[in-house]
Amino acid sequence: MRTPLGIAALAALLCMAAGCGGNGVPKDGGAASGSASASVPASAPAAGSVAAVSQYDAGPRAAEGPEDEAGSKRGAQLFKDKGCSACHAFGKKLTCPDLAGVTHRRTVAWIENQVMHPDVMVRTDPISHELFAKYMLQMPNQGLTREQVMDVISYFRHMDHEAGEASKQEAGK
Ligand code: HEC
Repeated sequence: MRTPLGIAALAALLCMAAGCGGNGVPKDGGAASGSASASVPASAPAAGSVAAVSQYDAGPRAAEGPEDEAGSKRGAQLFKDKGCSACHAFGKKLTCPDLAGVTHRRTVAWIENQVMHPDVMVRTDPISHELFAKYMLQMPNQGLTREQVMDVISYFRHMDHEAGEASKQEAGK
């Protein structure tokens, strides 16, 4: 999921830098239309506006952190109280990404940023943007503090540890 997008974005940037596409390669064999065809789609982001690779996605997955039983309990409560459970579930898709396996596919820093600044992430982070494109819904900022987000991450980690191997398979989805 991450890699193809990263490569595509990188390729697009390289393409723009090298000015490829405008070399008169005929689109459908029609030499006459060659010079008129635009080389870069109108929707392509300006170079530098979107990082090719998520800056928050480097390093160990969130699942690798220590278990925190008390934090996980608080996180489970927050997940309901803060409205997360209206959109997200584990092991099934509601209207939003299935959170089973989320600690295998993301880092702590990425999840923290997604929960605290979903509006910024969707604009600047390629993974978040890809999810947005897929679900066609903007995750709202639910106003959690950093401590509360850490508790929610403990809860996610606990869920993935409980699910064991099964949650790793979910991670690729
Ligand atoms: C209105 C529905 C909605 C609510 C409420 C919501 N989310 Fe989301 N969430 C989304 C959508 C949609 C995405 C995909 C990114 C986007 O489109 O903004 C997402 C993405 C995520 C992701 C990344 C999932 C992945 O596969 O990497 C995490 C983690 C997450 N949300 C956690 C939370 C937490 C924690 C809360 C509660 C504080 C919450 N969400 C509340 C809709 C919601």
